Amino acid sequence: MAILPTRAIEPPVRADQERIADMLRQIAEIGADPTAGISRVGFSKDERDAHELVGGWLRNLGLAISVDPIGNTMAVRRGAAENKPAIAFGSHLDSVVHGGKFDGIVGVVAMVEVMTLLAEGRAATEHPLKGMIFACEEGARFGEPCIGSKAIAGMLTEADLTRIRDAEGITLEQAMSGIGLNPLQLADVRWNRDDLAAFLEVHIEQGRILEGESRPIGLVDVVSGSTRLRMTVAGRAGHTGGTPMQHRADALAAAAEITLAVEALANGPTYRGTRATVGVLDVYPNRITTIPGRVDMRLDVRDFDSDRLRRAAREIADRARIIADRRGVAIDAEVIADTSPVVLSMWLRQALSQVCGELGIDWRFMPSGAGHDAQIMASIAPAAIIFVPSKDGASHVPEEWTSVADIAKGADVLYQAILRIDDVLAAS
Ligand code: GLV
Ligand code: MN
Ligand code: MN
Repeated sequence: MAILPTRAIEPPVRADQERIADMLRQIAEIGADPTAGISRVGFSKDERDAHELVGGWLRNLGLAISVDPIGNTMAVRRGAAENKPAIAFGSHLDSVVHGGKFDGIVGVVAMVEVMTLLAEGRAATEHPLKGMIFACEEGARFGEPCIGSKAIAGMLTEADLTRIRDAEGITLEQAMSGIGLNPLQLADVRWNRDDLAAFLEVHIEQGRILEGESRPIGLVDVVSGSTRLRMTVAGRAGHTGGTPMQHRADALAAAAEITLAVEALANGPTYRGTRATVGVLDVYPNRITTIPGRVDMRLDVRDFDSDRLRRAAREIADRARIIADRRGVAIDAEVIADTSPVVLSMWLRQALSQVCGELGIDWRFMPSGAGHDAQIMASIAPAAIIFVPSKDGASHVPEEWTSVADIAKGADVLYQAILRIDDVLAAS
């Protein structure tokens, strides 16, 4: 498809940095954790409050707001033509526990800013525009990421609602119902492919590449997949003084050896580029004078190559069994979430690179090591991710930071890209 420079970029429309800073500040007040950072996890009251706050801003712009049965918030701006598929853009407002103020938020704020600029300029598009706030992207509580976008894309089943549980055993269905959502209406959440023309997401890079190159924009070509495992190591609890070393089945010592084996596997030549992390070790009974009898482990494997991703996860489980057998402890391993890597739309990337060039903004193509809603939306429509720099690459921590000036550049690119995509699709 030809990418025509149909609509001129002049007169210059630019994102308002003060408005962006104010939105970030207001959102950061919801779920601020007194201990550190932001803890606004998916399917919590705080996440719903943040959706309501931003939904209110979008309503004030005259957009039609709706919330689907599992909590995705949508803001629709009508297109000039009848029955055209939507161009959608947005991100998420949930965070990890002790997370930052920018992951996901930046994409939502950029979406609101673009909707505001369009309203101010009374710019018309042929296609309807859909501002998206996805529910529960992080998987912080349930292990499963991108729940809202997976439901939209038809990648979440009714069985998942009862299969997926948090650390306390609460199912996804119970958590959703508990905050007034209607998970049993899952079928109504799903979008028809014909209703969506393209999806775009502005997001922080969560790495150091853009900052290192003093480049404000990254256009993502490939997004990493993620396979998550739960492993339970069962040994024998006992007295730390009374039990001789040779009579122990210490679950934590086994889990520690498994953790180092996970690291060694990802550092080895076969899996160079794979990232594997043991992020959770829950030790029972977690007492100084009792030998650990059980450890619940959760780990996350990431790769750009889907075969290697799943091979690495299988090999980790195999190595863990060998270590457990040698140490006389039992092990149970299961995959709790599995998201494929995705190559994003080439034509959207080209359109975005043209827009950056015309705006005089320095950019590069780059991969995304983290997962995103756009990676899920890519299963139903062409999708694109616009990265803005992360200070020191910090993310999923309170220190996460991106300058308002860089976020504004991301919003500028998004604004122009939406108009460009609208023109290209209308002309084709
Ligand atoms: C999302 O932030 C992820 O964990 O990839
Ligand atoms: Mn995110
Ligand atoms: Mn995240």
